[in-house]
Amino acid sequence: MKIGLLHPGQMGVTLGMALRQNAHEVLWLADQRSAATTTRAQQAGFIGVETQLDLVQRSDAVICVCPPAAAKEVAGQVAGLGFDGVYIDANAVAPQTAVEIGTSFAERFVDGGIIGPPAYKSGSTRLYLSGAQAPEVAGWFARGALQAVAMDAPVGAASALKMSYAGYTKGLSALLLATQALAEHHAVMPWLAAEWEQSQPGTAGRVERAALGSAPKAWRFAGEMREIAASYNQADLPMGFHLAAAQLYERLAPLKDQSEPSLAQVVSLLLQGSPEDNAVSGATD
Ligand SMILES: NC(=O)c1ccc[n+]([C@@H]2O[C@H](COP(=O)([O-])OP(=O)(O)OC[C@H]3O[C@@H](n4cnc5c(N)ncnc54)[C@H](OP(=O)(O)O)[C@@H]3O)[C@@H](O)[C@H]2O)c1
Repeated sequence: MKIGLLHPGQMGVTLGMALRQNAHEVLWLADQRSAATTTRAQQAGFIGVETQLDLVQRSDAVICVCPPAAAKEVAGQVAGLGFDGVYIDANAVAPQTAVEIGTSFAERFVDGGIIGPPAYKSGSTRLYLSGAQAPEVAGWFARGALQAVAMDAPVGAASALKMSYAGYTKGLSALLLATQALAEHHAVMPWLAAEWEQSQPGTAGRVERAALGSAPKAWRFAGEMREIAASYNQADLPMGFHLAAAQLYERLAPLKDQSEPSLAQVVSLLLQGSPEDNAVSGATD
């Protein structure tokens, strides 16, 4: 099969590589993409096309793996070009967002949620799929490092699973970083660190790892936190926790793609805040 990949980011490129391992051809679109995406796509042996129309016309299926905040726009563009193949949205979006995206593709839509790091190592990463055509799409990934799991569930289920999972993992990272920032603001960090050592061993290491792992991707996590908040809201659960997490991650956006941000840099950016946040909360400092 010919499968269009929008776009070969750090995660997306490994989905494309898995498809190639299963003897499918992968098409990608260079237009508007960065040098990093271009290099990834070329090194992975994907076929470059000139325009989105070209990609849509030549692909049997399109897989979207992009920043969650752009998922609806990308799907709208593909639908607007009259695409009549299978469309898979594999982004971290709320179940209701997945359902909304799916309306443009009817029964040809498959909802996806990825859990794990970019799939280079077997057993590290799963692509959950739901919707009528999920088993067929899972079959496209039968070999390779990425494990595709067809859920016997409707569109929205794969996204709900991803939201539940990331709501805890990324929500917890935001909470740990905010906790460190609060203690540093009040100059009580030495005492908190000593207390953690005694009663919550390992917490200091978790904060360090949260800074290192989250800060370079925080710009993208902000949109994902909003999707998680919307998921909670739709389930009649309080959404404020993840809206706050979105604000925290937004403050870390200047660290985009920085390879080894320090905890001190992260805390400093968190404590600088943003005028918009303070206006919303009524805070004065
Ligand atoms: N990375 C992970 O460990 C991981 C784990 C689980 C799930 N996911 C999910 O995978 C998706 C993408 O993650 P990723 O790690 O591949 O991100 P990424 O490395 O930042 O790549 C995003 C890709 O989308 C492109 N892009 C950027 N802005 C866009 C826009 N406004 N419209 C359309 N495309 C745009 C980027 O192109 P440029 O290079 O030109 O910016 C890049 O090719 C997200 O939904 C994420 O939640 C990722």
